Amino acid sequence: MPGIVSIAIDGPAGAGKSTVAKGVASILGYRYIDTGAMYRAVTLAALLRNVDINDPQALYQLANSTKIDIIECNGENIRVMLNGQDVTEEIRSPSVTENVSNVSKAPGVRQILVDAQREMARGQSVVMEGRDIGTVVLKDAEYKFFLLASAQERARRRALDFEKMGFPVNIEKLTEDIEKRDYTDSNREVNPLRPAVDARVIDCTGMTAREVINHIVNTVTEVRY
Ligand code: DC
Repeated sequence: MPGIVSIAIDGPAGAGKSTVAKGVASILGYRYIDTGAMYRAVTLAALLRNVDINDPQALYQLANSTKIDIIECNGENIRVMLNGQDVTEEIRSPSVTENVSNVSKAPGVRQILVDAQREMARGQSVVMEGRDIGTVVLKDAEYKFFLLASAQERARRRALDFEKMGFPVNIEKLTEDIEKRDYTDSNREVNPLRPAVDARVIDCTGMTAREVINHIVNTVTEVRY
């Protein structure tokens, strides 16, 4: 395949972005980059060091002195490292999930992570997932997709994830948390969650991950060849 290709996959919490982005990256042989994991790693660092998550300046300083690496082991197995320590599981905990929207509102944190994400994408074909990939991080991406699904379906998927990880689940609270997180992510001043004007919007309610993956891979290959 000639040239370097970037695919941006954005959308609200629990729309299935990770499964879909990983699947697309694996079929096309591109690097998969989960930008939410980076906001989660900064949030975990803030919780571990008792940094006030409502203090943007303190969060900026924390992000500036924190090293986050996303390492690929054997293709699909992605590990998230915080200052050299593997935090792949810890960043999915309910306490990180509850606080991450607040941390990701801080403009200084966004500035540092957006620069790091652009650096990661440089010189290679990537599938990058997040909230502001098509609108900010990779504005010139060749392909942009915005995944939607109803809050109920997204809460149901999150419940399955939490159950698998052994955390207790309350579906009403999960739905409420997801709606709250959507609101914060969509209404923050810096880089809010919204589809890029040139994004292809896919409503994934009632679709399997495999169907969404095939749809995206077909779009990319049809348009390209
Ligand atoms: O995709 P996720 O649920 O792991 O993302 C965690 C949080 O990080 C989410 O609430 C919003 C934030 N985020 C963001 O603001 N910008 C991104 N590019 C990715 C995630």
